[in-house]
Amino acid sequence: MFRNLPRSIAASLGSAVRYTPVKQVSPINHVMKRSSAIVAVHRDTKEDNQNTPFEFTEENMKRAQEIITKYPPQYKKGACMPLLDLGQRQLGFTSISVMNYVAKLLDMPPMRVYEVATFYTMYMRHPMGKYNLQVCTTTPCQLCGSDEIMEAITSHLKIKPGQTTPDKLFTLQEVECLGACVNAPMMAIDDDYHEDLTPSKTVELLKQLQAGKPLEKIGPVSGRDSCEPFSGKKVLLGSEPTDIRQFTRSDL
Ligand code: FES
Repeated sequence: MFRNLPRSIAASLGSAVRYTPVKQVSPINHVMKRSSAIVAVHRDTKEDNQNTPFEFTEENMKRAQEIITKYPPQYKKGACMPLLDLGQRQLGFTSISVMNYVAKLLDMPPMRVYEVATFYTMYMRHPMGKYNLQVCTTTPCQLCGSDEIMEAITSHLKIKPGQTTPDKLFTLQEVECLGACVNAPMMAIDDDYHEDLTPSKTVELLKQLQAGKPLEKIGPVSGRDSCEPFSGKKVLLGSEPTDIRQFTRSDL
């Protein structure tokens, strides 16, 4: 009769009661195992160890100083994320030297920087392939077929999430919502989003990159513009939206 009691309650009922744990069956235990597999633990390697020198180039140091001046001096650690991003863009990944360098620049304990860099999936803790594929598999994308997109990529490239192709062209990651749910399923290739994907369209994109042709068109591959309804624009019919690119850095 005490089979379903928690151990602590069973114990309080006296030593005569024998606790028999019951295997709990979760109603959602059939949920697919997530396969995000880039481990955040640091292990010294040839290209990622404390003795590998790193410092910003002159141009990036200028950018870093501009970023730091956006924060009050006592809160300059607020610049941690953009500086880690800058370091990653310069080196190709967020090495321990990049993290230590940013910590020194911002007068932060290195551990605080490690915490940031290992929390966000945007920081790559291992050398990456030339193209970083991030496939969203959160609910809206999954309902619209992200499992098939992932399957198409893994079969075409013969790698699993967390791995890089032997030719160092692609690194594959499974990530949480990237904020383009209305155009699901989607994946980001470096900084650009490719949306409304189908398995065949996804493989086409990969083949184009493998052939050395950069992807000129970003956004939905379905032909619709941005996230307009498939049946055409319904609102804001009078004017064209402002091109956001005029407000962003051309090298990003
Ligand atoms: S769920 Fe995939 S972008 Fe939001």
